[in-house]
Amino acid sequence: MKNHLLILAAALVVCACSPKQEPLTRDFDPPIMGWSSWNHFHTEISEDIIVGQADALLSLGLADAGYVYVNIDDGFTDGRGEDGRIRIDTTKFPNGMKAVADSIHARGLKAGMYSDAGDNTCASRDVKPYGLNVGLYGHELDDCKMMFDEWGYDFFKVDNCGGRHLDLNEKEQFTKIAEALAACDNKKINFNVCRWVFPGTWVIDIADSWRTTHDIWVNWDQLKTIILENMYLVAYTGNGHYNDMDMLEIGMGFKPEEERTHMACWCIQSSPMVVGCDLNNMPDYSIEFLKNPDLIAMDQDRLGIAAPVVQKEGETYVMAKDMEHFYGPKRAVVVANLGDEQTTITVDLEALGFKGKVGIYDCFKHEERPELSDSFTLTIGPHDSEAFFVTGKRIEQSVYQAEAAFMKAYTEINEQDYPVYRRPYDIPSPRVRESASAQMGYYVTELGGWDDNWLEWRNVYSKKGGEYSMTLRYACANPCNVAVSVNGNDIAALEGLTTGGDLEWQETNVKIKLQKGWNSIKLSNPDSSMPSFDSMTLRKIK
Ligand code: GLA
Repeated sequence: MKNHLLILAAALVVCACSPKQEPLTRDFDPPIMGWSSWNHFHTEISEDIIVGQADALLSLGLADAGYVYVNIDDGFTDGRGEDGRIRIDTTKFPNGMKAVADSIHARGLKAGMYSDAGDNTCASRDVKPYGLNVGLYGHELDDCKMMFDEWGYDFFKVDNCGGRHLDLNEKEQFTKIAEALAACDNKKINFNVCRWVFPGTWVIDIADSWRTTHDIWVNWDQLKTIILENMYLVAYTGNGHYNDMDMLEIGMGFKPEEERTHMACWCIQSSPMVVGCDLNNMPDYSIEFLKNPDLIAMDQDRLGIAAPVVQKEGETYVMAKDMEHFYGPKRAVVVANLGDEQTTITVDLEALGFKGKVGIYDCFKHEERPELSDSFTLTIGPHDSEAFFVTGKRIEQSVYQAEAAFMKAYTEINEQDYPVYRRPYDIPSPRVRESASAQMGYYVTELGGWDDNWLEWRNVYSKKGGEYSMTLRYACANPCNVAVSVNGNDIAALEGLTTGGDLEWQETNVKIKLQKGWNSIKLSNPDSSMPSFDSMTLRKIK
């Protein structure tokens, strides 16, 4: 957790008024890489299994490739004693949990722990008595000190089945847990919130990573849902804090082409990379995919950012992000065919952010392709992906999608099907909606009406600064108002915008001045509803 509460409080003060700075050296950790016991072993774990998997990370060369965390998930407990301490299931862990952490550390690896924000862990739902009364609620500080100071673990995944059972307010309870972690002597605890949807921007202030979806399993539609969901959460990954797309199901039964897509999409989004299979029993091609050094470099890149969709043809998505330097010559690109038919797509180099000749390096074949300009055409089989490093002369980004902007009040907690969650979050928050009428397939709606319900593009770059024409693509059935500010300065109040329908898109232009380097453009209206927004386009005037 590394004193995130303090660091982030300070960072937020700075971020509110200053544009994005490029770090000279990485000052934050990359997404974690490792293995976790849950997906394959569930609660059937033991010291022998955990240490055996740690050995496999080493013998398969996965540890050398970066997979160094060995995370124990649900299933090591046996209730809570009268002294208030968690009891360990000694049939599985006869030497206790510190001994397991010590064995993992002795192998040069890092050790991960698991708990729940409420009273029971998730396994208590169906594998009783595991997980009953062993969650953190009411024991936050004591449990954290035991796991991280006494036992010496390095990573903490905190689930929320018990939190749901007790109907806890997630923001308050997870913040309390983050405070307990901050009170530990161990200052290097990597904290993962497992709340199965994007919980809200508060999570960025307290956690290193957070789950964004329900559990992954070997099912193409489920994998596709996770990939699509994370495409519009890109604004929340950054500065060492990551959307967690869940554990890797590579080696657990997906087809090779689906594993390529799985690996490429996790890496382009800078997701944590935690393998979920039995390492001693997976196909050789899965081991090779996991060890792909180019994709790992994409995931672990020093900028630590996620990639928005820059081009979409049917169910084929092109995602691109800067690597090594913001607006530097090199970008990571993944082209994912999530459809069930083979597709041919012509990838537009301008949409990727380049002009003129580019070099293209194939991250699956590990070889350079011939240099080219303007565009390149790919034929991709169903469920398959290609991944590249593209290098060349950069152009300023001109189209910014609304769904890739930072929305302070964005949460998916009150969107889902558990009515119990709606209660504490029953306030308007923005929604990302799918529509064929929207560019790249998505738009943002339900903005405005209270102070935090705004949208901001925080990564607007101008090489030299100057005057730009900003075009907003919006829709509004009833007259709506919106204020535009650039770098914290009010620029325009657009009033009475109306387009005659919720999905009737129109455009309006505003002249703005950008400073050299990074800028932020914010749309807000604390008093009433804002229009829905699809995108913002910038054209330089002078
Ligand atoms: C939840 C989590 C899983 C796993 C199980 C353990 O379902 O999302 O990743 O930790 O609980 O019971």
